[in-house]
Amino acid sequence: MAFLLGVDIGTSGTKTVLFDEKGNTVASDLQEYPLYQPNIGWAEQEPEDWWKATYTSINNVVLKSGIDVQTVKGIGLSGQMHGAVLLDKDGHVLRKAIIWCDQRSGAECDEITSKVGKDRLIEITANPALTGFTASKVMWVKNNEPHIYDRVKRILLPKDYIRYKLTGEFATEVSDASGMQFMDIPERRWSGEVLDKLGIDKECLGMLYESPEITGKVHKYAAQLTGLKEGTPVVGGAGDQAAGAVGNGIVRSGVISSTIGTSGVVFAYTDKVSIDPKGRVHTFCHAVPGTWHIMGVTQGAGLSLKWFRDNFCMEEKRTAALMQVDPYVLMDREAENVEEGCKGLIYLPYIMGERTPHLDPNARGVFFGLSAKHEKQDLLRAIMEGVVYSLKDCMEIIKEMGVDVTEVRASGGGGKSKLWRQMQADMFGCAINTINSGEGPALGVALLAGVGAGLYANVEQACDAAISVKTTQSPDMVLNEKYAKYYRIYRQLYKSLKQDFADLAKI
Ligand code: XUL
Repeated sequence: MAFLLGVDIGTSGTKTVLFDEKGNTVASDLQEYPLYQPNIGWAEQEPEDWWKATYTSINNVVLKSGIDVQTVKGIGLSGQMHGAVLLDKDGHVLRKAIIWCDQRSGAECDEITSKVGKDRLIEITANPALTGFTASKVMWVKNNEPHIYDRVKRILLPKDYIRYKLTGEFATEVSDASGMQFMDIPERRWSGEVLDKLGIDKECLGMLYESPEITGKVHKYAAQLTGLKEGTPVVGGAGDQAAGAVGNGIVRSGVISSTIGTSGVVFAYTDKVSIDPKGRVHTFCHAVPGTWHIMGVTQGAGLSLKWFRDNFCMEEKRTAALMQVDPYVLMDREAENVEEGCKGLIYLPYIMGERTPHLDPNARGVFFGLSAKHEKQDLLRAIMEGVVYSLKDCMEIIKEMGVDVTEVRASGGGGKSKLWRQMQADMFGCAINTINSGEGPALGVALLAGVGAGLYANVEQACDAAISVKTTQSPDMVLNEKYAKYYRIYRQLYKSLKQDFADLAKI
């Protein structure tokens, strides 16, 4: 029997999972670490914490599973995207990593846009300058910490720092590197033009691989720390979104995923590069060689329901603790009692500003249509519906870009709710499926490792071997029409409120 290891370097912790060739989980381990927020809107992590969590979790998985490490045929790395890990000439970390959700680099986004040109930037990197992406974070260090910037010899993404610690290689792969904003996305290579205009030395960036390619082998010291065999191959892997998509089988036209985690993501595969000229969705290279993906991101998806749970559902939390169930199970029951459309109550989920489709950090959450007849459970359901309207916004842009949607796979914490899945089926007007595994990114990169190790012929075959549809929910087309009427109003509301959001932000 051959085994594959998937390591996902997330924001709250690193999860390592050992799989067999059929994608079954053999053992897993999670090691957590802190997030530092030295200022409002700043977010940093210590790369050494990721490394410690990685070797500890790999070691624990090896011990828990009791397997012979000779049978681990490959390792795949997944991770939080966009973070900037800066190393000096000796490979030492120069400062804490500025990670994906850090928002300090607004001025640098303006600088990047003016240096490269707004349209040219979207043509090359497929995205407008965003505070979330690596380029603006690096430029912030250049502008604000020149004493550090002068010593930078390597710029790595979080999972690629772990690759360096495991193998000694400076390398990355196209799916994660797409989110640095240094790549020519249609050509799948570093963009000389962008790097020149921003004054970044190409030598600082790692070798660029396709995701299933072998990028290096576990060296002796890392083998001692992890308990793995020296020489075990490490493949490119993928950024957490592309990795999660492979782990959901989003590797062919027509199958797209809809994930409700803290944020919500609609993710589509495409074999032709397709860029939204308005930059409302991200186009990145996919982990399937020679293909791309389009991704719409709504900021306050699961976060909206969590906010409601933590502020207004004390009773549900207490009862759930007594019944030993998740409070969301009880909240689902309450929402089920409310008629679709919530008697005219519409929720805009912009409690963290919005990426797709508005790209507006000033947007804020709204309950619209509130009347004296509404009760708590109406607000609860309105939140769930509002999140799905916002996912539909992502879906509509993806369809506008010529992507076929024949099947939607639900995932993330919100994907566990049958009610929330049914709302998606009804509003999108197509079937919503779930699959057999919930391991998402770790499974995705383990399958990429299997391709690199020659266990599967390609990523599609790897997914066929490990992933199957478990449940299907069909749309109710009568409800589809009813929701469509509310969705039209939902769309108008942002337009009506855009200026008010901006005015509010100025106070
Ligand atoms: C993708 C994104 C997140 C982070 C953190 O654009 O910002 O998926 O990778 O998970």
